[in-house]
Amino acid sequence: MTKATLKIENQVYELPVVEGTEGEKAIDITKLRSETGYITLDSGYKSTGSTRSAITFLNGEEGMLRYRGYPIEQLAKKSTFLEVAYLLIYGELPTEPELEEFVTKITRHTLIHEDMKKFYEGYPAKAHPMGILASLIGALSTFYPESQKSEMTPDEIDLTIRRLLAKVSTIAAWSYKKSLGFPIMYPQNRLSFCDNFLYMLFAQPTETYEVNPVVSDALNKILILHADHEQNCSSSTVRMAGSSQASLYAAISAGVCALWGPLHGGANQKVIEMLQQIKDEGGDVDKMVKKAKDKSDEFRMMGFGHRVYKNFDPRAEIIKKSTDSVLKELGSNDPLLDIAKQLEEVALSDEYFIERNLYPNVDFYSGILYRAIGIPTEMFTVMFALGRLPGWIAQWKEMRDDNQPISRPRQVYIGETTRDYVSIEDR
Ligand code: SDX
Repeated sequence: MTKATLKIENQVYELPVVEGTEGEKAIDITKLRSETGYITLDSGYKSTGSTRSAITFLNGEEGMLRYRGYPIEQLAKKSTFLEVAYLLIYGELPTEPELEEFVTKITRHTLIHEDMKKFYEGYPAKAHPMGILASLIGALSTFYPESQKSEMTPDEIDLTIRRLLAKVSTIAAWSYKKSLGFPIMYPQNRLSFCDNFLYMLFAQPTETYEVNPVVSDALNKILILHADHEQNCSSSTVRMAGSSQASLYAAISAGVCALWGPLHGGANQKVIEMLQQIKDEGGDVDKMVKKAKDKSDEFRMMGFGHRVYKNFDPRAEIIKKSTDSVLKELGSNDPLLDIAKQLEEVALSDEYFIERNLYPNVDFYSGILYRAIGIPTEMFTVMFALGRLPGWIAQWKEMRDDNQPISRPRQVYIGETTRDYVSIEDR
């Protein structure tokens, strides 16, 4: 086995080197503290691996992304979101009977307990749907107490997973209906996952609603592209919360909250707000690029840059093409798409972005595609969560199957050294 040597205060230590199936190398520091008394420090975990994983491989330099070895370009073109969900969670593409059972179970679990409708009454009219999603997913663990057991049987785990994949689409669609003051639409078992979500989102009780196949296909594609992304902020949150043996619902609720941040999944909403601002202020993309480069300005070009991709984000490329074709097929155009393309062109020829390897990420065009299929801006991050759900579940399941210990990082203390209490009169 290859070893790394570390010299500390004239003492030489040997640490094992781990190599992944794609040639990635890591120094295993599991025993570092017990052998040397030292820990490592890596704010934001830029050089720290938290786990071995077999779910998703991405190569930031090559702009490569594969789910269980399958390139996302092939899955986006040939697969369905629920088939990809099965692949991520169980590790293999399902056989026909396996897919049939998975889809049927999910279809039959899309209803949520009638008492959960009362939660919606309590939110303010303009409640952000991510806040509703996080709390209602957490609340699912109270309606299904068996999900709280730290030792669930495989069947209980499978049922809990199917319930979650089914009910999140209903919870998400109903949060949108509630935000408009519209009546909620119950799920229809005769519809596919994507068609059903679009139905619950856009149908009205006063008229028949026909799902547009172009829109449904675009939704299927964008959900697949969001399905997993290895140890990103929200997936790591799910693993962290799940490592204490909190229920799957509690861990996923934590992941939803982490995704909500504007530096992570919340960026897709911020991108549209940024593009709209450029449009409202006369379309001057150079001004926005200048603002993004100004260190005295905390503004960042939303939808640009990535912790791992130091080349193009393969998902952004596919979403950009899909947005073009959906807008063409629907016979509509979106001025924000033209502004986005101009912004991309200006930024990618600018030294500041080039030397920092800042390219459009998954969030840069996704908002325009969501708009093209009729999804409102405040629902964009909910769409990201809906897409990422199978990935979060897969990461949680892998962590449990590997019997990983509770996550509990160390720290370097930089506060006051010991001192005695001073009574208030003497302060
Ligand atoms: C997602 O991790 C994942 O996989 C996430 C995700 C997934 O699928 O789960 O891919 C989804 O979250 C995509 C990212 C969405 N967020 C945004 O679009 C927000 C804007 N992007 C940035 O905030 C930033 O690029 C991050 C958060 C995405 C990455 O930040 P890093 O890796 O911590 O990089 P950094 O902040 O250290 O930046 C390095 C340099 C800095 O400049 P210097 O100090 O070196 O001079 O690049 C600059 C930053 O100021 N920079 C930007 C910028 N992003 C980085 N400058 C202007 N605009 C930006 N968008």
